[in-house]
Amino acid sequence: MKTLPSEALSYNRNDWQRGYLSQPQEFDYWIDEVDGQIPFELQGTLYRNGPGLLDMNGQTIQHPFDGDGMVCRITFDKGQAHFRNRFVRTEGYVAEQKAGQILYRGVFGTQKPGGFFANAFNLKLKNIANTSVLYWGEKLLALWEGAEPHRLEPHTLETIGIERLNGLIKPGGTFAAHPRIDPGSSPTDARRLVNFSIKTGLSSTITIYEFDDHYQLLHQQSRTIPGFAFLHDFVITPHYYIFFQNPVQFDPLPFILGWQGAGQCIRFRPDQPTQILLIPRDSSQPMVSLGTVPCFVFHHGNAFEQDNQIMVDSIGYEYFPKVEPNQDFREIDFDTLPAGQLWRFTINLADGSVDRQVIESRCCEFPSIHPNYVGKPYRYLYTGAAHSPTGNAPLQAILKLDLHSGYRHVWSIAPRGFMTEPLFVPRPGGTAEDDGWILAMTYDSTHHRSDVVILSAQDIEGGAIASLHLKHHIPYGLHGCFVQNM
Ligand code: CO
Repeated sequence: MKTLPSEALSYNRNDWQRGYLSQPQEFDYWIDEVDGQIPFELQGTLYRNGPGLLDMNGQTIQHPFDGDGMVCRITFDKGQAHFRNRFVRTEGYVAEQKAGQILYRGVFGTQKPGGFFANAFNLKLKNIANTSVLYWGEKLLALWEGAEPHRLEPHTLETIGIERLNGLIKPGGTFAAHPRIDPGSSPTDARRLVNFSIKTGLSSTITIYEFDDHYQLLHQQSRTIPGFAFLHDFVITPHYYIFFQNPVQFDPLPFILGWQGAGQCIRFRPDQPTQILLIPRDSSQPMVSLGTVPCFVFHHGNAFEQDNQIMVDSIGYEYFPKVEPNQDFREIDFDTLPAGQLWRFTINLADGSVDRQVIESRCCEFPSIHPNYVGKPYRYLYTGAAHSPTGNAPLQAILKLDLHSGYRHVWSIAPRGFMTEPLFVPRPGGTAEDDGWILAMTYDSTHHRSDVVILSAQDIEGGAIASLHLKHHIPYGLHGCFVQNM
């Protein structure tokens, strides 16, 4: 990969790193510093989840995926906005706060102090509830794919406790952090929540659930696939659930012995294809597994069926880098790592062939679309992106891609601003697919604080129509959701 001279970088590494400082405080206030005007029609709440604590008693958390979940809520009401954040009171968070030190091993390598003897054979992982937040069926859930969800009070963000969804999720069970909301095939269809859990080892069992808006189970099915499966996300179409089984292998010995976190024992197999699993929603139909080029996918943008083909748009990486032991993520060398790019996989159902096409080569992550187009042919995709069109770099921009015309619209906050997941929120009463807003939380390293930005999705290049300045920073988060007025 071509290395740019450092003076050509769109960012300063120290600026980027400071966005990963812990935020141990919990706040509750009306946001009074706003540039621009919050649209009056924007009514509802943006919830975001992400790691809030990235160090503990002087010991750093080695990977951001290991930081305790902290949920933020920004409520928009008649042109005003209110901010609140709370840590999820998981068993681990409460115990570690009380002890004032790290008591659990992190999946991605954060070790308990005490070296080998403290870490060997200690397989208890902390449910850190830090990946996403879902509001459905009047329940607000903080999600982490390795364990059960935590239910929170939607207004105060107080932790109510582990949520088992009427006994469906057994103790030790999992519920993925990437639920999909199926809008149905006609406007009169009721929306459904679709999500999965996974049990992995020498073989892996995926269980998929569909719920109505009161969490009544409408459908459930399980499928078993050979091998270890690292499944973070999935996509749906009217007839299929689609998973990408990345070609990775899990070598648990260093983890069991306490040398490495479980995430560090994942090894990419460049000699193996990525398997695309097409699981029919009709559970009487057989599953189909199709090989494609070896690659790694965390996130999918969307999928849809057309003319006996299925299109899947995903953020793909050429390979999955090994997470090295004792390597702090803040020190990573972006130039040596693959950049996420938007790829379209075209699956031909007639002959089982899969074609892969790069549709956006700029480094990008965290795709978002209009919620009514989930699983359907669509035109617009929004994603966090790097400032430069080439190379690997932190996210500093929002990119809107018109999949029909190929036009791209970019708004960058480089050099001193950094981007997180942009979410598309439809304007009430709007009919055009891009009639709505993009909401994102950004990190302003100049002032060491975070902003909530609102853009018109039809005018990305016009920049933020409102920038809401928080009184503090929030570490870069992962995923969120928007809820129209409850
Ligand atoms: Co994710």
